[in-house]
Amino acid sequence: MTDPAAPPWLHLISAFLAMEPSDSLVSLARVCGDGSVTERVQRFIWNYCISRAVGKAYTPYLRNFLKKLIVEVESIHGEVLDEIYELYADIITSLKDDQFVEKSMRVRKTITFLFPDCNNYYLCSIWPSSLLLSEFILSFPEIFSNKSCFEVGSGVGLVGICLAHVKASKVTLTDGDHLTLANMRSNLELNQLSTDTSLLESYEDPNVVQCVHLPWESASESELSAFVPEIILGADIMYDRSCFPDLVRILAILLDRRKSDSTSRKESSKVFTLDTKCNTNDLNDLTAVTSKGPVAYIATVIRNIDTFNYFLSLVEQANLSITDLTEAKMPFNLLPYMRSYDRSNMRLFTVSSKA
Ligand SMILES: C[S@@+](CC[C@H](N)C(=O)[O-])C[C@H]1O[C@@H](n2cnc3c(N)ncnc32)[C@H](O)[C@@H]1O
Repeated sequence: MTDPAAPPWLHLISAFLAMEPSDSLVSLARVCGDGSVTERVQRFIWNYCISRAVGKAYTPYLRNFLKKLIVEVESIHGEVLDEIYELYADIITSLKDDQFVEKSMRVRKTITFLFPDCNNYYLCSIWPSSLLLSEFILSFPEIFSNKSCFEVGSGVGLVGICLAHVKASKVTLTDGDHLTLANMRSNLELNQLSTDTSLLESYEDPNVVQCVHLPWESASESELSAFVPEIILGADIMYDRSCFPDLVRILAILLDRRKSDSTSRKESSKVFTLDTKCNTNDLNDLTAVTSKGPVAYIATVIRNIDTFNYFLSLVEQANLSITDLTEAKMPFNLLPYMRSYDRSNMRLFTVSSKA
C-alpha cells in the first residue's frame, strides 16, 4: 500500500512541488522503488505529482523532469507509462509552438516544512538562507511568538510566513525593490495572510503582515523610528559590499536600546541578547534572558571571507556585537527531501547593541 503522507513518497511529492532538480527527483523515485523507478513508482508520480500539476506547473520544468524520468526507466529496460510518453510529446509540441512561454510564465514553488505530524504548505521561490532562518523560527517558536519582528531584504516573504505561523505579535517585511514587494504580497496572500502597506497602522495582528518599501540607502532615522521591533531578521542580505555601510547603519538604528527603552514595551516581554561573553546556558534558553533590548538574527552563506570580514568590521565600528549561533542552536532539519539545500555552508548570527 502506498501512503503519500509517509516518507519516502511524501519526500518525492514535496521535492516535486519545491521544483527540486530532476536528478534529485529521479533519485528519490529510485528510493521509492527500492532501487529502480518501477511501474508502481511511475503510477504514483503520475497520480500525485504530474497529473495534479498539468496546467499549473512551470511547463519547462515538467518537460525536463519527464525527460529524465523516461531516460531513467528506459535505461533499465523498463516500461514507461503511456500517459507519461504522451504528456511529454504534448509538452514538447506546445513549447515549440510558444517560444515565449518560458519567459512569460510565473514560477510557483511549494516549500513544505515536514513536521512529523502535520503538513503546511508555503508557496515561494527563495534564497537558501531563508530556508535556514525559517527552519530556525519553526524549530524555536518560543523565541518569536508574541514578539514584534521586522525583516530587512525580505524577498519572497517566506520568513514572514513562518513568523506569522509561530504567532509573532507583529510582522513587518521590507524590501528595497517594488516588484519584489508586489511578489511578496502575492505570496503572503496565497498563504492566507493579509497584507498592509501603510506605515501608520500600529495594531498587532499575527494574520496581517506589514509590507514596506525600505531601500537601505535612503531609509532615514526618522523613517525607521516608526518601527520599534523586538527582533530584527535578515537572510542572504550580505552579498553586495557597497550596501554594507547602509545595512549596518539600519541595523544599528533598529537595535538601539535607548530608543527601545524609551518606547513602552510589554511588561512580560523577554528578549534574548548575546554578547561575546555569552555562555552556553544563555544559548540553551534564549527566551529566559530578561529584556535587554532588541536582537537581530541573520542567516547567511559566507561566499567570500573578505566580504564577510568587511561586514564584521562595520559591525564593530557601529558598536554592535555579533555572535555565531550556528552550532549552538542548529534548527531541526525540516526539509529532508530537498537535496539541493545544503546547510553546511550556512551560518546563523545574532547581532545586538553593545551600548
Ligand atoms: C539575496 S535576496 C534575499 C531575499 C530573502 N531574504 C531570501 O533569503 O530569500 C536579497 C534581498 O534584499 C533586497 N535588497 C538588496 N539590496 C537592498 C537594498 N539596498 N535595500 C533594500 N533591499 C535590498 C533585494 O531586493 C532582495 O529581495
